[in-house]
Amino acid sequence: MRRVGIGFLRPGMKVARPVYDRSGRLLLATGIALTENFIKRLSEMRIGALYIEGDIFSGGADASEIVQQSTRMESIKLFKETYRYVKSRRYIDTRSVQKTVDDLLDEILGSYGTLINYYEIRTYDDYTFSHSVDVCILSLLTGISLGFDRLKLKELDIGALLHDIGKVKVSKEVLNKPGALTPDELQQIRRHPEEGFNILRRHHDIPLLSAHIALQHQERLDGSGYPRRLSGDEIHKYARVVMIADVFDALTSDRPYRTAYPVMQAVDFIGSLAGEAFEEDYVAALFSNISPFPAGSVVMLNTGEIGQVVKTDKSAPDRPVVRIFFDRQKNRINHPFEIDLSGEPLLSIAQTLSEEEVFRLTCGTLQPGGSACLDRE
Ligand SMILES: [Fe+2]
Repeated sequence: MRRVGIGFLRPGMKVARPVYDRSGRLLLATGIALTENFIKRLSEMRIGALYIEGDIFSGGADASEIVQQSTRMESIKLFKETYRYVKSRRYIDTRSVQKTVDDLLDEILGSYGTLINYYEIRTYDDYTFSHSVDVCILSLLTGISLGFDRLKLKELDIGALLHDIGKVKVSKEVLNKPGALTPDELQQIRRHPEEGFNILRRHHDIPLLSAHIALQHQERLDGSGYPRRLSGDEIHKYARVVMIADVFDALTSDRPYRTAYPVMQAVDFIGSLAGEAFEEDYVAALFSNISPFPAGSVVMLNTGEIGQVVKTDKSAPDRPVVRIFFDRQKNRINHPFEIDLSGEPLLSIAQTLSEEEVFRLTCGTLQPGGSACLDRE
């Protein structure tokens, strides 16, 4: 399977993972073949991308997920309700929030050891809600890698899920503003950590340390953050975990003012701040869970051969198993074969192909006579 952006979908491709709408209802089930009409409808609903089968890069990619799509959708739905509830009644149903984060934690502990194929686990743009759930997932993976025990992970998960709850006080227009913010609007946003802390500390069954995650997640180790410009050990370790997960998820998401960074670029950006804004060991702990070349991505090796990542392994995240489909002259190979890069020290991945490059390649326009378009096969 492969993740394909809406602009590159074609009739005949088959849905490889179910597609849900914003309220969690099933739109397209696995195995359904896309038609012009389906594609038009998905585009109208602003569904950004889906996992498909039915072109040459379709079979055999590792489909393991850290958290099942249905659990993730349930968590987003619950967080959405929590957010609205806090906005109208200033109260959190802590029992159902706790149940949700416990379910997430159990699933993550069960699948821990698999690399997260991060690049776009989300399929639609509902950032405020999906962001909180994704930050929670990334924070838990980091916490597990750092050896946190279950009690610590529970304090971490509820705080990570609710780290941005103070944004209920910020207007939607300001949160989603495409252009630059006025000083006044910036002030509004910069108040969200304290607002969040005040909301959370009113609930006696939310640990105070979890509330501190909301208060401190915008601080930075070198004192460059806000609201209190804390530095080093003044920032609790839970907040030091969540701040990295928060920035990573923000960078790899489409925002009203910019498109998403590819995973590799986000990894480089955060890596460049390790030891300054971010705790070095914590950055390494997060990265040990993320595949820079997620299963399904199409890559070119240093030999010029092109293939698809079919299996990733935690022991060598940047050396996955690649199934080769095109030789170094970009001619389609009749019998695709797999190379396990972990056993091939001279081989490496030179680049990930963009969606446009993959589209051109599978339609035979990259090299004349190189390959046949799906529609003609
Ligand atoms: Fe935030």
